[in-house]
Amino acid sequence: MKNRYIPITLIVAVCLIAAAAGFLFPPSEPETPVRVVLDNSGGRVIFTHVTHTEDFGYECSDCHHDEIGQDKPLPCGSCHPKAFDEKFRKAHQKNFANTEACLRCHENVPTGPLAEEDRPDTENIPLRSEAFHTQCMSCHENDGGPYGENSCYTCHAR
Ligand code: HEC
Ligand code: HEC
Ligand code: HEC
Ligand code: HEC
Ligand code: HEC
Repeated sequence: MKNRYIPITLIVAVCLIAAAAGFLFPPSEPETPVRVVLDNSGGRVIFTHVTHTEDFGYECSDCHHDEIGQDKPLPCGSCHPKAFDEKFRKAHQKNFANTEACLRCHENVPTGPLAEEDRPDTENIPLRSEAFHTQCMSCHENDGGPYGENSCYTCHAR
């Protein structure tokens, strides 16, 4: 082999090995936290995340109903804040890595301050604890798990 072919042969070999490695070892599934600690005024809730996925057998999308082009699910609070207030208005843009997410609430991707009438209608977007209570309990009511009047301290620490 002529000497001048050696570098190109090496480069091609490295590329082939990298391609083969990518094929044999695809990127792993996104990390799933084992437990999620949710501190709140009703008493801390420890949500057994992996038990719900692996033992009870739910799909990510059963709860993370909005994955929109993200590599990993977003915290619920990115879209279900405690209040749609001044603080949310100023900071929420940073919760999202792409503009596709903006269209979940906005008609167009906003580029600056919005007039009153161009602000999204938040009537059908539950606030933080309502979003959790609704999702946790409507599934529990159907599939088993704590819900209803006397269930509070199955989830909340006293
Ligand atoms: C039974 C409902 C449920 C299922 C099923 C579920 N999750 Fe979650 N997950 C949650 C809740 C609730 C949180 C806490 C969100 C928060 O703190 O706002 C969470 C948090 C997360 C977080 C942390 C988000 C952050 O940055 O704080 C990741 C990552 C995640 N889940 C990934 C997954 C993946 C991947 C799957 C599928 C294998 C999955 N989840 C299945 C309910 C669920
Ligand atoms: C990217 C934004 C976004 C994320 C992240 C998100 N949601 Fe939502 N969610 C919405 C919007 C917007 C609605 C309003 C209804 C609709 O358009 O689907 C909604 C609606 C809901 C509803 C009411 C649905 C119904 O059928 O009445 C519940 C409950 C809910 N979300 C819980 C959650 C939980 C729990 C998480 C985290 C595991 C989560 N959401 C993550 C945007 C989001
Ligand atoms: C969960 C719903 C939701 C998502 C997702 C969302 N927004 Fe918003 N956004 C709102 C609401 C509600 C307001 C108005 C808040 C108010 O009335 O105080 C707003 C207001 C704004 C404003 C106006 C701020 C001002 O001072 O007038 C901008 C700019 C904006 N959003 C940009 C974005 C961008 C960029 C994204 C995506 C990266 C995004 N938003 C995603 C709900 C959302
Ligand atoms: C998609 C369905 C579904 C959703 C959503 C869900 N769960 Fe569950 N959960 C279950 C099922 C099924 C069981 C098991 C019932 C049994 O076998 O007794 C359970 C059991 C539990 C238990 C008792 C056992 C344990 O692992 O500690 C707690 C506490 C609990 N869930 C908390 C929550 C919380 C908090 C949320 C919301 C953040 C939530 N769950 C959302 C389906 C769900
Ligand atoms: C299936 C589990 C579960 C059950 C059952 C449950 N909760 Fe919750 N609760 C949660 C979760 C999850 C949150 C949201 C935590 C967060 O904001 O991070 C929450 C939030 C709250 C909050 C905080 C509200 C706020 O705006 O800060 C109060 C108060 C509360 N729950 C009271 C109750 C009462 C009273 C009951 C019984 C009638 C009850 N919860 C039953 C899981 C549960």
